[in-house]
Amino acid sequence: MTQILEIKNLKTYFSSDDGVMPSVDGVDLSLNEGEVVGLAGESGCGKTVLSLSIVRLVPHPGEIISGEIYFKDCNLLELKEKEMQKIRGNDIAMIFQDPLTSLNPVFTIEEQMTRPLIVHKKISRNSASEIAVDMLKKVGVTGAEKRIHEYPHQFSGGQRQRIMIATALSLNPGILIADEPTTALDVSIQAQILKLLSDLQHEYNTSTIFISHDLGVIANIAHKVVIMYSGWIVEEADTGELFGNPCHPYTKALLDAVPTIYGENKKLRNLPGNPPSVGEKITGCKLHPRCPQKVKGLCDKSIPEYYKVGSRHRVRCFLFQDK
Ligand SMILES: Nc1ncnc2c1ncn2[C@@H]1O[C@H](COP(=O)(O)OP(=O)(O)OP(=O)(O)O)[C@@H](O)[C@H]1O
Ligand SMILES: [Mg+2]
Repeated sequence: MTQILEIKNLKTYFSSDDGVMPSVDGVDLSLNEGEVVGLAGESGCGKTVLSLSIVRLVPHPGEIISGEIYFKDCNLLELKEKEMQKIRGNDIAMIFQDPLTSLNPVFTIEEQMTRPLIVHKKISRNSASEIAVDMLKKVGVTGAEKRIHEYPHQFSGGQRQRIMIATALSLNPGILIADEPTTALDVSIQAQILKLLSDLQHEYNTSTIFISHDLGVIANIAHKVVIMYSGWIVEEADTGELFGNPCHPYTKALLDAVPTIYGENKKLRNLPGNPPSVGEKITGCKLHPRCPQKVKGLCDKSIPEYYKVGSRHRVRCFLFQDK
């Protein structure tokens, strides 16, 4: 399989008067062509910051401290901003939880959908408009020819998300990053949008990073699952393997808590306490203060590496160092 994205030792930190938050703290991650990687973990573990780092849109005071992000053979972190702008939208597209934050209220859908096509693909306004209408039809916006002239507020939340998906995919990007694309929607609409994304992924074979709170959704859509905790990837495996043979105590707690864990402030039942807060320094494994399986004198003193428990399965936990 050809690798389309490779992230090496990426660190993105937020600094404030309260101290430093290592939101992404030495992440290595790869994505193959046509693969869907599901990214999961508690609120605040760094999923969004990781995806914003890939497209170099980390908001101030966040900063990419170090690392490499290869898209094909090009290290995105070395590109000039102008070159990066070409990559965004054209090669790597993002859809967010709330489509209203990405749709501009003062422009019609046509203006917003055709602009990137005209700028990035250098095609005429008329052709861009045709592509946009076709894409809207494909994502299930009825009366697309007419509705393309309307403004974002004239659409429902589900329809707006369909428009975002249409906009992202109309450029035929190499990589799609979908950050909680259905969380803000009603449950029945969520299912429709997920089905749409999954169908389109199959049709276009788009390499996708899919972020979700919902492990059930990830199990359905992802080929590989990556579990994050406090800026670390703690476990990574192919989907069947991860759900069939979860190893990290954190992954197990997440799975034990399905389906009731998530909801922004709900706690993991089997994991007391909270993730590290801003400025909090934890020696050893970041999970050890909460971990039911911690080994005294080891987990609180030393930082675990990744241990392989299968050909494509790695775990950042001392319990697996001799396996
Ligand atoms: N704009 C910001 N200003 C300051 N700190 C931030 C900002 N955005 C993120 N952070 C820090 O980075 C950490 C990771 O945030 P991130 O948004 O990536 O979490 P997440 O995993 O996407 O959570 P959620 O599931 O709630 O979307 C946060 O805990 C916070 O400390
Ligand atoms: Mg997020």
